[in-house]
Amino acid sequence: MYNDLEILNNLENNILNKDEIAFLLKSKNSDIIFKRADEIRKKYLGEEVHLRGIIEFSNYCKRQCLYCGIQGQNSKIKRYRMSVNEIIETAKTSLPFNYKTVVLQSGEDNYYTDDMICEIVREIKKMGFVITLSIGEKTYEQYERYKNAGAERYLLKHETSDTQLYNTLNPNMSFQKRIECQKNLKKLGYEVGSGIMIGLPTQTIESIANDIIFFKKMDYDMIGISPFIPHPDTILGESDIPALELIKKVVAITRIVTKDTNLPVTTAFSTLNNARGREEMLQVGANVIMPNITPVKYKMKYELYPDKACLTEVAFQCKGCLEARIKSIGRCVSTNYGFRNKER
Ligand code: 5AD
Ligand code: FES
Repeated sequence: MYNDLEILNNLENNILNKDEIAFLLKSKNSDIIFKRADEIRKKYLGEEVHLRGIIEFSNYCKRQCLYCGIQGQNSKIKRYRMSVNEIIETAKTSLPFNYKTVVLQSGEDNYYTDDMICEIVREIKKMGFVITLSIGEKTYEQYERYKNAGAERYLLKHETSDTQLYNTLNPNMSFQKRIECQKNLKKLGYEVGSGIMIGLPTQTIESIANDIIFFKKMDYDMIGISPFIPHPDTILGESDIPALELIKKVVAITRIVTKDTNLPVTTAFSTLNNARGREEMLQVGANVIMPNITPVKYKMKYELYPDKACLTEVAFQCKGCLEARIKSIGRCVSTNYGFRNKER
């Protein structure tokens, strides 16, 4: 018979076993898992919470991911694209908030040429921001161009390490290709972010345990763990929403296993628990929040899933709200760039 404390010690000592992790994910003793995760977060990263402003600059997407509200075949959604200037201006407007990073995210939208992406990166970097790109699968050469223009981080989630489930959920895409992209990014010296969704159809606890082992193997610099929230305009619209407790356990175990990785409070989690979700995730291992700085008229249309948190708040309201939440649990807003290992 397994014992929770013994497993926690194993995980802390980098002894990872799928069945043991699955046992913990099913355990009723969440509190000891949460406590251990919080201790490890404190030991490796201290009390600082990094705020990274995200601009969702286009909701056009050429892919057809079954779970995603902005997938290309959804004809109900109103599409928008911000111009290069609008994107640069949005970053500029956020300067007073003192966020150290700007995350540029969009659907996979070929409207933006590499020249345009490089110009956006260059201009925003000049303002003193670190740039994270989250614009999907590109070639090695494209990633290299963005890197040379000044991008330093890239988010490319694989959503599940179950190859078959991945290939079902993402038509005309392949798990292998996805991981190859992540490896290319790593080779180019990016900090690489990945992540998964919990509650995907047919996903099992054992599969989530494998996801966590895969995180360790790939040594990601950032890992986002989100609940899957069914979108009514997709064919998965009738699915169930996963238990928040399970998401928190996945975050906590990921912290215990990966030690110093940046773990964001995901917006999907805040959406399911707008009252206390951010505080709760910060207390089970998370150390990053990504306030949305997209202009309100656009962010309402970036509907990956329904009822996204903070859709009507303008950026400066989010800043005040988040700072108060962070302070209320004895943590502080970081004033550095929040790279994983190095600081400048
Ligand atoms: N529920 C939760 N998260 C979703 N995403 C896309 N669709 C959903 C959904 N239905 C997330 C994925 C993707 C990111 C841009 O949004 O993690 O990588
Ligand atoms: Fe856009 Fe999946 S629908 S990346």
